[in-house]
Amino acid sequence: MVVLGHTQTSSLEVRLKKLQDLWDKRVQDPLAFVPHEERERLSEEQARDANTQFGEFAMNFLKQVLRKFATSREQSRRIATEWFDEKFLVSVGYGRGYDSKGLVAAAAEAELVARVVDVSGVAYDWADADMYGQYEQVSKVDTRARMPLLSCGDILQILEDQDSYGFDSASVKIWYLSRVLNCLSSSDRAMEVLQKIGAALGRGSNGENRVVLVNAFRDYNPTRVGKTSLIFTIEMVLSSLRQGAGCPVETKSEASYQYFSQDYRAIEVGLK
Ligand SMILES: C[S@@+](CC[C@H](N)C(=O)[O-])C[C@H]1O[C@@H](n2cnc3c(N)ncnc32)[C@H](O)[C@@H]1O
Repeated sequence: MVVLGHTQTSSLEVRLKKLQDLWDKRVQDPLAFVPHEERERLSEEQARDANTQFGEFAMNFLKQVLRKFATSREQSRRIATEWFDEKFLVSVGYGRGYDSKGLVAAAAEAELVARVVDVSGVAYDWADADMYGQYEQVSKVDTRARMPLLSCGDILQILEDQDSYGFDSASVKIWYLSRVLNCLSSSDRAMEVLQKIGAALGRGSNGENRVVLVNAFRDYNPTRVGKTSLIFTIEMVLSSLRQGAGCPVETKSEASYQYFSQDYRAIEVGLK
């Protein structure tokens, strides 16, 4: 366990508060998450429609991954005992919930518990209401549904100090990060998050654990200049996951989506 001195604790708190204030403001913006160059010409309704369609694309991709996972889980259940413990689908960055429609049902079908992480208190409150509402509905028709868990905090801090957040990355089967990697405060932090997720991936039994990332990657957007967002190549992402895992990883499936002028990719990564 890492014991932090008083100065370290307060600087972490100050950092977290800044991050929370920044994201509380951003998620409440009616034109939230649209590219900066489109803001002038879009109505709130158009922005909402574009985000809703994008969210459907991201969630449909996640569902496909979960379906394959459920099949491989059936096989592993016969040879492993680890399924006696609860396993998680962790979704980082709820935002306005565009990409979380059906999250609880999809997790239940794969016999996973959904766990949502967001640094913004506003997004956390929205997620809380939404996840509870989804659970109420799904639990009426699917006995596998479990009450989702939520954490309000910085994903890197959570991964670094798991005990304080009651978080156990070893029990995570699927990681879902849609439009989040590019939002982390620096490239270094984004790569650190991936290394820690990679470490959990490397520990997964039967190589069935997956990371689902939905992002605008440099590979497909060579001239893109972000205003506040970071942009990575797929190789940078894979390399950080590989470093964390300590063994080769690969893209198992990929899908594309045109979001305004950007080519977004959903990628499913697992151990090679
Ligand atoms: C661009 S939004 C994406 C929301 C949603 N996934 C989507 O695609 O519509 C990014 C979300 O990540 C959250 N976020 C940003 N930095 C974070 C961090 N360090 N830890 C956890 N969540 C973070 C923000 O509060 C915001 O809700």
